[in-house]
Amino acid sequence: MNDSIDYSQLKIPTHVAIIVDGNGRWAKERGISRLKGHDIGSDNLQKLIPYIMSRGIKVLSLYVFSTENFKRARAEVDHLMDLFVSIYKKELKNYVRNNLKVIFSGRDDPLPKSVIDARDELVEATKNNTGGIVNFCMNYGGRAEIMDAVKRIVHSGVDVNNLTDEDFRHYLYQDLPDVDLMIRTGGELRFSNFLLWQNSYAEFYFPKTKFPDFGPEEFDQAILEYTSRDRRFGGIKQ
Ligand code: FPP
Repeated sequence: MNDSIDYSQLKIPTHVAIIVDGNGRWAKERGISRLKGHDIGSDNLQKLIPYIMSRGIKVLSLYVFSTENFKRARAEVDHLMDLFVSIYKKELKNYVRNNLKVIFSGRDDPLPKSVIDARDELVEATKNNTGGIVNFCMNYGGRAEIMDAVKRIVHSGVDVNNLTDEDFRHYLYQDLPDVDLMIRTGGELRFSNFLLWQNSYAEFYFPKTKFPDFGPEEFDQAILEYTSRDRRFGGIKQ
């Protein structure tokens, strides 16, 4: 907790999305390998998730691997895949204990079977939990998600003339509320194909802090900033 923040005055977003960025640069600045940077970022993430959910957030979406990230060096991709397997297995009991439901967004192909198995085990073990949703976006792309939804709609044979945007949402990877607050750590000012549909009216926050240093205090600063935003959703404030 931060003494300079009046927590009773904060507006708590329902859905927060985070682009976990800056592990590589953080590591380079310290003369250590990018892979080690991911390990340290991953440790930070596992500590941060329970804190974020304890602040009353209902849905937390995390961009941990984009479809484009498969273009990275083989050693880095392999390392991240191994990290996913070990973290999903290791953290399973903590998600169960914290009553958090874990879900995933993204395509299966070309994820290794070991990642898919660890993912499915985590989803199954937490499916009845009610204390909030953690949505890992892994092998995820926003355009791919919209394309996949369109294909599902076409194959379903539904009458598209009456399709509303609320109906469309049900065909996305997960049926989640719109994002309220989108955070990208590491100082880059773009949202890189992340939750294109769901981010339509999100408030964006771009801290310079690289992910391994993005802790509870930085998260609370994001909520403070969000509280000060005037959300009009395209309308005029009365
Ligand atoms: C972006 O930083 C980060 C990633 C592509 C991987 C994020 C993954 C983790 C933190 C691993 C842990 C996650 C789980 C669920 C176990 P970057 O490498 O693009 O950093 P840079 O922009 O500084 O190069």
